[in-house]
Amino acid sequence: MSATVLIGSQWGDEGKGKITDFLAEKADCVVRYQGGSNAGHTVEVAHEQFKLHLIPSGILYPNTLCIIANGVVVDMGKVIEELESLKARGIDTSNLRLSLKAPVVMPYHKKIDELEDQASLIGTTKRGIGPAYADKINRIGVRICDCLEEASWLEKKVKKIVEYKNRIIEGIYQEEGFDYRLVLDQVLEQVNYLKPYLADTSFLIYEAIKQGKKVLFEGAQGTLLDIDHGTYPYVTSSHPISGGACVGAGIGPTQISRVLGVAKAYTTRVGEGPFPTELNDEMGDLLRQRGAEFGTTTGRPRRCGWLDTVILRYATRVNGMTDMAITKLDVLDGFETLKICVAYRYQGRLLYEFPESLGVLEQCVPEYIEMPGWQEDISGIKRLKDLPANARSYLRKIEEITGVKQCLVAVGAKRDQTIVKCEIFD
Ligand code: GDP
Ligand code: IMO
Ligand code: MG
Repeated sequence: MSATVLIGSQWGDEGKGKITDFLAEKADCVVRYQGGSNAGHTVEVAHEQFKLHLIPSGILYPNTLCIIANGVVVDMGKVIEELESLKARGIDTSNLRLSLKAPVVMPYHKKIDELEDQASLIGTTKRGIGPAYADKINRIGVRICDCLEEASWLEKKVKKIVEYKNRIIEGIYQEEGFDYRLVLDQVLEQVNYLKPYLADTSFLIYEAIKQGKKVLFEGAQGTLLDIDHGTYPYVTSSHPISGGACVGAGIGPTQISRVLGVAKAYTTRVGEGPFPTELNDEMGDLLRQRGAEFGTTTGRPRRCGWLDTVILRYATRVNGMTDMAITKLDVLDGFETLKICVAYRYQGRLLYEFPESLGVLEQCVPEYIEMPGWQEDISGIKRLKDLPANARSYLRKIEEITGVKQCLVAVGAKRDQTIVKCEIFD
């Protein structure tokens, strides 16, 4: 059995797209199980860059089955845009499958996301993610399979929901509402385009695993953005942690053999919320500039800080992590010393476990150890033993603190800038 769940170990943007693409060469199937077009996964091959939001990062391999499963909230217009853009670049997209059970992100979700974020100040991506998940839980969502039902039934459903949403948009926010007929027409046109891709994806994934195929679940966002286990309320509305793969793809926990945590060699976060190791100084600016830390989806500058192993140990626990991939090690080239947060100081005590409460986290001061940096350019290095001794010590320290073995180390954005320490798929 070779089903591996790949997750973000921090606040997203760890390089999940790059690692997924790297592993997709050997994977038979890559599955997105949560999130939506809030995700921005970058894949670089030779001189080409691909920014994927909904389509799995395995799509560049024509023989890899790529699945958008039921747990993803789907902006059908965005899927079509991504498909068209990939096709225009010569990418074969016939291996994409989209769950019939996936909830649809409707135009009013995006509008409400924008309006609500002005009050909540979470700094969402405004892609309608929170409102679409809220409607799913509230049982007033529209699923893709609903759009294939009899026209009059769907019309009645959409009319009722749009009228309700208009009461919120017009009544509370005094903004213009939606014409349900236009919403309906758009949805029908989009589902018609996507018809060839629609499938019972839980069945496809189950069969693939049963046949011994190599299945990779591509998490979006990251552990600290998880609705239950992240820095609530500054989180997304889904379950990016590994457990989310079961519900979000319709498979059982017994089907998963490994959990690969992707961790950036330092820490970043987009949007609001506490961030203990954040650097609001030239060092933070330097990391942002060297790491090109600007959001793939929104273009916002990412907040940057030192590596936080309290977070990585927490991510190890809540994901049941078996392996780790460290990315962007090359961004740390040229620093005299590097700091690693090993604990938090809170009201005079040292905390080694990530706090449950946001109030506590906000008062935590990181406790650092210092490691010597390296001056060499490591971006062309292919083997672990060729890395500078201090870079190897930095990696070893992370392994020692987390207790999780590292199987991959990325030293650049491109596919071939990846050092393999152990194979995920043999
Ligand atoms: P994701 O959301 O986790 O897939 O990550 P993003 O694509 O949003 O952000 C990661 C960024 O870092 C992208 O621009 C990648 O091309 C880039 N990247 C990934 N791995 C490396 C690496 O090892 N070194 C450098 N310099 N860039 C990397
Ligand atoms: P990938 O998959 C980083 C953040 C937003 C905001 C919060 C809630 O590329 O790692 P949402 O629109 O989801 O309701 O926003 O979550 N966020 C991300 N941050 N990477 C992402 O995805 C993110 N997706 C959402 O900035 O703080
Ligand atoms: Mg991203």
